Amino acid sequence: MDAERARIDMLARTLTEHNDKASQEGSGMKSIAVLTSGGDGPGLNATIRAVTRQALKKGVDVYGVQWGYRGLINGDISQFSSRDVGGIMGRGGTFLGTARCPEFKDVKVRRTAIRNLNQLGIDGLVVIGGNGSLTGALKLHEMGFPTYGVPASIDNDVSGTDRAIGVDTALNTILDAIDRIKDTASSHQRAFLIEVMGRDCGYLALASGLAGGAEMILVPERKGPSVEEIAEEVVDAYVRGKHHCIMVLAEGWEPGTQAVAEYLSAHKDDLGFEVRVTVLGYVQRGGRPSAFDRLLATRMGAFAANRILEGESGNMVALRGNKLKSYPLADAVAELRELDLALLGLAETMD
Ligand code: ADP
Ligand code: F6P
Repeated sequence: MDAERARIDMLARTLTEHNDKASQEGSGMKSIAVLTSGGDGPGLNATIRAVTRQALKKGVDVYGVQWGYRGLINGDISQFSSRDVGGIMGRGGTFLGTARCPEFKDVKVRRTAIRNLNQLGIDGLVVIGGNGSLTGALKLHEMGFPTYGVPASIDNDVSGTDRAIGVDTALNTILDAIDRIKDTASSHQRAFLIEVMGRDCGYLALASGLAGGAEMILVPERKGPSVEEIAEEVVDAYVRGKHHCIMVLAEGWEPGTQAVAEYLSAHKDDLGFEVRVTVLGYVQRGGRPSAFDRLLATRMGAFAANRILEGESGNMVALRGNKLKSYPLADAVAELRELDLALLGLAETMD
């Protein structure tokens, strides 16, 4: 039996070595680096873990870059072992750190970044981040350095993918807040303005407003309503006998939460409801990733590692339905992900 076991183990080892060699021959890569960049969110650590574990399994060395592109420029780059990414799947934030680094828009600065990677013998880079970060990844690819992207931004504003990593967790954080605010709004018969994140994209406002049963959802993708029309909606909810009036606004909606709050306050005697404002802010960026985000992060991270090791560059992993595919970075960063405005109509129907 022992001899047979030994023969099977030897065959398995030979097969693994053969696959590793075959996959490396796809790109010949012997080592890759991974970084997180831009606005952080839940699921980044799960993504780093998946990229690292998948590449190590293929016999490729993995380096972690701290503080996003700033760390790439400064050479904050160190080799990872499998243990370095242990126990991080369920942790929010990014243990590598992230940064906003506008100087990366300068080609001379990007040259330093590529020099730092080459000096360590790193053959490819996986970038985890939003639109801006993925634009930086595209620029590195265009300069000839193999780079592959993973979409991660709570705004869900990366086009080409149904979901980015972090969105589901942020959405549930917002929904929990809306449910809590509805409790006190009903107790006091009040109208609430709830501002959520989404610099240029109203996805979080739309999805959380619909799921939270909000009476009004305001997104940057749709002009209006005017502050006067908003006041009329509040009066209408009061006259219809509603116990509260919940209005969810994306921070990028114009003319903005403050403008509405001031107008409603100036006309408070006409509204029926007292009005209060809650800006959710940065709680939306933190927290332990949901099951959905952990699964998405693990799948996308492993997919990205495989693709860059097979020699792909200039693409990102995209979720389409429940399938993953490669999608060109040039297309992904050309425009923001389109908002499904039909959902806005559905929300108004539900009002
Ligand atoms: P996010 O990735 O969350 O959208 P940012 O828009 O701040 O966050 O982008 C993150 C980083 O990506 C920027 O700080 C910068 O280092 C890099 N970046 C953004 N746009 C570009 C660009 N046009 N060219 C090169 N690098 C860019
Ligand atoms: O891009 C994600 C995001 O959370 C936006 O929704 C928000 O407006 C922005 O980042 C905040 O940027 P910062 O973290 O640099 O203040």
